[in-house]
Amino acid sequence: MNKDIKEILISEEKINEMVTRIAAEIDRDYKGKNLVLVCILKGSIAFMGDLMKKVTIPTEIDCMKVSSYGAGTESSVQINIVLDLIRPDLSECDILIVEDIIDSGRTLKYLTGYLLHKGARSVKTCTLLDKPSRRVVELTPDYVGCEIPDEFVVGYGLDYAEKYRALPYVGVLKPEIYSE
Ligand code: IMP
Ligand code: MG
Repeated sequence: MNKDIKEILISEEKINEMVTRIAAEIDRDYKGKNLVLVCILKGSIAFMGDLMKKVTIPTEIDCMKVSSYGAGTESSVQINIVLDLIRPDLSECDILIVEDIIDSGRTLKYLTGYLLHKGARSVKTCTLLDKPSRRVVELTPDYVGCEIPDEFVVGYGLDYAEKYRALPYVGVLKPEIYSE
């Protein structure tokens, strides 16, 4: 285990089970629709990569990157789009936003409104992890891997100061690492 990790919260095996279950739910719900999976960079890269391989219905993929004002472990207040979708016309798209984790809910609430405003036929949300106790705005994801307590986690795409994204599991960072 990485020396900066206090404990493994979600093992590779558990992640695999969650992703398999969500993919089956998407297969069931999006049959006959024009599914576009939108990966929110960079945190959702690992989840997106695994999820898209397990979804068996036809799907398009796209990416967006948002920046939030305020770094570190604090949740975002101001959200800016750093990279927009490559696809220009969303009028026939049933978008499913793929996110790594929901904290305050601001990112997904903003993105849902933005993509609907851009003309998407439907917009739903999918997250691997959810911290419902941290919610500031009203946002209930349509697909969830699992809920976690209010702890700062890294791995499987999630970072602290751009580190730990490549870990294959989700772990709790030792508090002394981010309070240094
Ligand atoms: P929200 O807009 O407050 O819901 O923030 C969601 C974003 O905050 C996620 O996409 C992550 O980038 C980041 N985030 C929230 N909690 C954590 C965490 O425990 N570890 C790493 N990143 C986190
Ligand atoms: Mg993120």
